[in-house]
Amino acid sequence: MTPEALPGEDQPVLVFHDVVKVYPLKAGDVTALNHISFAVNRGEFISIMGPSGSGKSTLLNLMGCLDTPTSGDIFIGGIRIGDMSDVELTNLRRDHIGFIFQYFNLFPLLNVIENVNFPQMLKSRAKVDEKKAVAVLRAVKLDEHLYVHTPLELSGGQQQRVAVARALINDPDILLCDEPTGNLDSKTGASIMELMAELNRNGTTIIVVTHDPRVASYTNRTIQIVDGRIES
Ligand SMILES: Nc1ncnc2c1ncn2[C@@H]1O[C@H](COP(=O)(O)OP(=O)(O)O)[C@@H](O)[C@H]1O
Ligand SMILES: [Mg+2]
Repeated sequence: MTPEALPGEDQPVLVFHDVVKVYPLKAGDVTALNHISFAVNRGEFISIMGPSGSGKSTLLNLMGCLDTPTSGDIFIGGIRIGDMSDVELTNLRRDHIGFIFQYFNLFPLLNVIENVNFPQMLKSRAKVDEKKAVAVLRAVKLDEHLYVHTPLELSGGQQQRVAVARALINDPDILLCDEPTGNLDSKTGASIMELMAELNRNGTTIIVVTHDPRVASYTNRTIQIVDGRIES
C-alpha cells in the first residue's frame, strides 16, 4: 500500500464481513461482537448506538486496527487487514485513520501546535508543515491566541477542538470517534457535532460511537448494536 492514497477508490472505505470478537476470560468467554457485517461508503456520516457493554468500543477499535477480530474479515480500502504486516497496519493507522476520544487524550506537556503536529512528526520528522497545523486549527475554529497554550489551560470544548485538529492533520480517510461529546456540556457538545457535520460535508468519512440520540441526530445513518449484534 502506498502511504499517499487509500486504494480502491470505487469500493467501500470499510467492510466488516462476519466479524466475531471473543475476549477469553477465566470466568468464561465474552462474545463482544457476534457475526457483524456492514459496509461504510466514502463520505458517510454514521453513528453507532447501543447500550453500555453492547460492543461499541470493541467495534470502533477493530475499525481503527487497534485490535484484531477472533474470526471474520475486515477490509479497509478493499484490502484485507488480516493480510497486512504490523508495519503496514501502523502506517495505515497513521496515514488514513483519525481517532477522537471522550477524554481528548492530548499530550499534557505539549502546547496546542505541538499536539497537532505530533502525527506529522510520526510520519516524517523532516517534513513538519507548520502551515498545515495552522490550517487545521483554523478549520476547527480555535482562537489563534490559544495555539501556544497547553491542554490544561483550555476548556473541555477547546481541548476537543485540538484533538479534532490533531486527528485531521494527516488527512485521514476515516475519522473514528468514541463518545466525542461524552465529557462536554450539551451546548459545547453541539458545537463539536456541528464541526463534525461541516468536516463531513467537506468529504471526511466519520463514524461516531454514542449513546446520545442528540449526537446521532447529526449523522445520516445509525447502526444499532445490542449484545454484539446489529439490530435491523
Ligand atoms: N479487553 C477486554 N477484556 C475482556 N472483556 C472485554 C474487554 N473489552 C470489552 N470487554 C467486554 O466486551 C463487551 C463489550 O464491551 P465494549 O465494546 O466496551 O462495549 P461498549 O463500548 O458498548 O460499552 C462487554 O461485555 C465488555 O465487558
Ligand atoms: Mg464504550
